Amino acid sequence: MIELDQLSKTYTQKDGTQVKAVDAVSLKVAEGEICVFLGPSGCGKTTTLKMINRLINPTSGRVMLNGQDTSGIDEVELRRHIGYVIQQIGLFPNMTIEENITIVPRLLGWDKKRCHERATELMAMVALDPKKFLKRYPRELSGGQQQRIGVIRALAADAPVLLMDEPFGALDALTRGVVQDELLKICAATGQTVFMITHDVDEAILLADKIFLMSNGPQACIAEVVINTLPKTRSREAMHHDPQFYRIRNHLVDFLVHRSRQIQAAQASGVPRPPTRIVMPGLEQAVA
Ligand SMILES: Nc1ncnc2c1ncn2[C@@H]1O[C@H](COP(=O)(O)OP(=O)(O)O)[C@@H](O)[C@H]1O
Ligand SMILES: [Mg+2]
Repeated sequence: MIELDQLSKTYTQKDGTQVKAVDAVSLKVAEGEICVFLGPSGCGKTTTLKMINRLINPTSGRVMLNGQDTSGIDEVELRRHIGYVIQQIGLFPNMTIEENITIVPRLLGWDKKRCHERATELMAMVALDPKKFLKRYPRELSGGQQQRIGVIRALAADAPVLLMDEPFGALDALTRGVVQDELLKICAATGQTVFMITHDVDEAILLADKIFLMSNGPQACIAEVVINTLPKTRSREAMHHDPQFYRIRNHLVDFLVHRSRQIQAAQASGVPRPPTRIVMPGLEQAVA
């Protein structure tokens, strides 16, 4: 289990003023859960995600992994356990596709054969012919193909926890659907725990067990935890025929359009922040 405990980040601006971007984010995610951060642009999603594996050092608060405070774990060790997909594709231009995919496995000391087999298997998963593409360089692939490589690179080392920052943002709709389905299948098979950021409400409902709604920054917080009450095995095609899908969808859109701002405005005017709400849209509401 991963637990974020009162995690905060204060940035010092160029003029020396301090801005609290993320304010006391607390949440718990069980092993094998897929959770999604949804919130307005610039609210602090990337900052929060990067604090989980210390790509950004928290100003205060703790990240607990299976009950252990990760501040005591060496950064390299921590990142073996917690894989990360960056917002940009971030392929190394001077490495072949195979070398790009196997960066982390090679760091972990996997032998050549195992690396090659893993790369081949992953390429097939995103419908790219390994024989044709593994020896190529990133510039010899289209933007969408490069993005797919970025996604499978994150999966390559079988990290128990994956942090994904808008991983499918640049994919065309068709490829995005394929990779979403693949991610669900992989997670069901491996029990990997995923933290993902997306702007896509439908993607959030398809993939997430829990959706963390972040309020507008500064002082962004988790305002609501929305529990996905759709059946765990769901497909993009069937989901749209379930009235519950629209209840969840409307709830999320309303938050993004209205409530996220209201929460920040109330906070700025000195009203104490209400506790994080746990919500099951259309079914029941409870206060945590
Ligand atoms: N290194 C930094 N120095 C100062 N401010 C930063 C830095 N990184 C991010 N910020 C600010 O913190 C806020 C949250 O940023 P970020 O986590 O990237 O948001 P999101 O991913 O939700 O779009 C933004 O207002 C951003 O401008
Ligand atoms: Mg971001």
